[in-house]
Amino acid sequence: MSADLVCGLQWGDEGKGKAVDYISENYDVVARFNGGDNAGHTVVHQGNTYKFHVIPSGVLRGCLGVIGSGVVLNPDSLEEELHQLDGSERIVISKRAHLILPSYKLLDQKLEGLKGSKVGTTGRGIGPAYAFKAFRFGVRVGDLFQTGLEEKLSEARRLVESLNVEWIEPDVKHWKEILAPYVGDDYKVLHEAYLDGQRILFEAAQGFLLDLDFGTYPFVTSSYTFTNGVHAGSGFNAKKLGDIIGVSKAYTTRVGNGAFPSELSGDTADHIREQGAEFGTTTGRPRRVGWLDLVALRYAVRVSGCNKIFLTKVDVLSGLDQVGLVTAYEVDGESVSDWFDFSQGALERVKPVVKWCDGWENALVEGKLHKNLLTFMETVEGTVGAKIQWVSYGPSDHETLCML
Ligand code: GDP
Ligand code: IMO
Ligand code: MG
Repeated sequence: MSADLVCGLQWGDEGKGKAVDYISENYDVVARFNGGDNAGHTVVHQGNTYKFHVIPSGVLRGCLGVIGSGVVLNPDSLEEELHQLDGSERIVISKRAHLILPSYKLLDQKLEGLKGSKVGTTGRGIGPAYAFKAFRFGVRVGDLFQTGLEEKLSEARRLVESLNVEWIEPDVKHWKEILAPYVGDDYKVLHEAYLDGQRILFEAAQGFLLDLDFGTYPFVTSSYTFTNGVHAGSGFNAKKLGDIIGVSKAYTTRVGNGAFPSELSGDTADHIREQGAEFGTTTGRPRRVGWLDLVALRYAVRVSGCNKIFLTKVDVLSGLDQVGLVTAYEVDGESVSDWFDFSQGALERVKPVVKWCDGWENALVEGKLHKNLLTFMETVEGTVGAKIQWVSYGPSDHETLCML
């Protein structure tokens, strides 16, 4: 019996969708537990491209998809996402998941306007949905089907209007139609599946460095993005988690604002952005790019408990003479490579120390990984203390190698 987790080790968009699709062949249930339609998980499965926002990527392989209590849900966006599928998928949505009300998007914009330094949110109303939940003014999926809904909406309206934001009435009748076939209890479904010997895979959204507490606050999202979110966001007993599979690109990207010690500009950055098609799935924004930051990656591996790495996009670095790895930070003249304070203020003061590796013309040579890529991977494993179990060298499901 196993229940494992796939989570991002960077600032999101590491290729979690691809990893989950590939790995979920060996699972019966795939569950989301955090975030909402700020997430954009691209899966290239048997030649077709899918973009998932809240639906777990494993539904393509026939897994039961669970949308947990910790997810914030926009039913209109879910409806669009469902159009990609053929109707045979099985999905359970937690009755405890909070709804993203239409006015929350306006509030998201307004909050950005009030900030000195904008977070650069996806504008989907994610922060307001989690804030309303914490204020205890949230409206949950289950509320749509119970008496008292009018009162809950009136309360939310009063709070929205007290913030001088326009109230947009949700189309409750339509939302009920969309959600009715799926509403259930995530905890119960997951617990029973586990007792029944089914294999469960959790699919995190966002990435370790976007975590509300452990990320680069305040340039983070509003949820718990790794192991910490599983129990809170699904009710599944965290003691039963087995593998923590961390997804990392062979370099780093970030959408939105905030510190980025290994960030690149100029020709190398352009090369990586173009080769890697580094434009956001959800917003289309160009992603900022930089070398793989092993100081940050080690922190993410340690705190998340990651024991296996799914390394993606090694093909994107092909053709570079030299590839950089940030192995330490220089802070006030001293070299730091171990524990570090990953707050925005501290990161602003660091200078990356770059170790250079010989590049590779192609990631694969006669079906095997290029020797320089293997050396690069050894440095990563040795520095961060987790094994690279899978290497992805293209977007398609078949462009993946499982290491022995
Ligand atoms: P996620 O949010 O972590 O699921 O990642 P995204 O889907 O937002 O971004 C990853 C992008 O890289 C997607 O367009 C994937 O199809 C693509 N991708 C994933 N793995 C690879 C890879 O190994 N090589 C290349 N070239 N593209 C990849
Ligand atoms: P996936 O699951 C990359 C970033 C936004 C912004 C910050 C806060 O596809 O990896 P929010 O809308 O959540 O309040 O924005 O977090 N962000 C992501 N960046 N991938 C994501 O999801 C992201 N979800 C949020 O760009 O900097
Ligand atoms: Mg994404």
